[in-house]
Amino acid sequence: MVDRVKTFFLNTPASQCLTEFVLVSAALDTISMPVMSIAENKLVKIREQVQHHLNGSAPAELTEVERVALEGRIKESLIRENAVIVAHYYTSPDIQALAEATGGCVSDSLEMARFGRDHPATTLIVAGVRFMGETAKILTPDKRVLMPDLEATCSLDLGCPVEEFSQFCDAHPDREVVVYANTSAAVKARADWVVTSSIALDVAEHLADEGKKIIWAPDRHLGDYVKRETGADILMWNGACIVHEEFKARGIADLKQVYPDAAVLVHPESPAPVIELADRVGSTTQIIKAAREMKNPQFIVATDQGIFFKLQQAAPDKQFIIAPTAGEGATCRSCANCPWMAMNDLQRLVSVFERPDNEIEVDPTLGQAAMKPLDRMLAFAASLNNGVVASR
Ligand code: 13P
Ligand code: SF4
Repeated sequence: MVDRVKTFFLNTPASQCLTEFVLVSAALDTISMPVMSIAENKLVKIREQVQHHLNGSAPAELTEVERVALEGRIKESLIRENAVIVAHYYTSPDIQALAEATGGCVSDSLEMARFGRDHPATTLIVAGVRFMGETAKILTPDKRVLMPDLEATCSLDLGCPVEEFSQFCDAHPDREVVVYANTSAAVKARADWVVTSSIALDVAEHLADEGKKIIWAPDRHLGDYVKRETGADILMWNGACIVHEEFKARGIADLKQVYPDAAVLVHPESPAPVIELADRVGSTTQIIKAAREMKNPQFIVATDQGIFFKLQQAAPDKQFIIAPTAGEGATCRSCANCPWMAMNDLQRLVSVFERPDNEIEVDPTLGQAAMKPLDRMLAFAASLNNGVVASR
């Protein structure tokens, strides 16, 4: 997988592959700054970072004996260190199974935040991407938060640098600032609200009911979806997820011809034409819930393939088919695999307590400011009680 993504980024000009999620449109219309040079610089920087991460050596395949030995060592150290694993659905089956077997959680980004905050362990091992580790640290500054690899980032986070984002917000002081959880601590500190895909619609509806106008960042596809569904007055930042942006409506429509009884399940980070074909749109937890509840024998799924482990557990008799991305046949660019989520593996997890370079630190002042919109999100989610329970 990493090789395929690597080939794509190596062979595709920056102007074609990453322009999509670099800040340009809304920000450029509204603030006066040397826009082209900033956009171009960001593009180069983001591309360098993606390339750097993809160049990281993929761990060797484990034999069964090696895997069991690593799991045994990790289990021992979790007990010794009073630690618990908080994993995302996009991590590998090995990581998800281990998290569950050791009393941790496997869930979406909202439930990961709640679980980490409420669990009594003094150390959280966040198996996901960096914003998830930072969220855990902000919510529980007294806990030690470790990650298998701190370089595991997210294109949405990379595409929303705080300096430019703050200027954008300053230019629109009449708007509530709503940011997706997939952002840095600094961006969250600038926000009134943090949302995840589980509660994005509810928060936007709530603000629209109160007559509030919104700045939405960074995911423009999620923002567009929320705008269409709620009619909220939204001014959009121009970011995107490199994984979900690859799903193709045409390919899904073709696949529907082959599997006429299949339902289409789509994560709202996907482009509008893909969302239009969906029978259900929702967060990762909501996708799993839909697969369990709906009667269809097959599902075409537009989100990261890591979720298939849980989907198959939730509905063992049903068939799950990955939604097509760019490319021919089985080949594609991202192949519905987040390269940063893939940095979570047993090899990195086993040394998580020994290495000096994988603890999440958040500046305490920044953390306090970012905690307000995060607390607000969790309180709002608790009041709704919708989809905040991890799917098992
Ligand atoms: P969820 O909150 O739905 O798990 O999404 C997180 C994410 O990064 C999706 O790409
Ligand atoms: Fe970010 Fe997309 Fe990866 Fe989710 S799948 S962590 S949004 S790059």
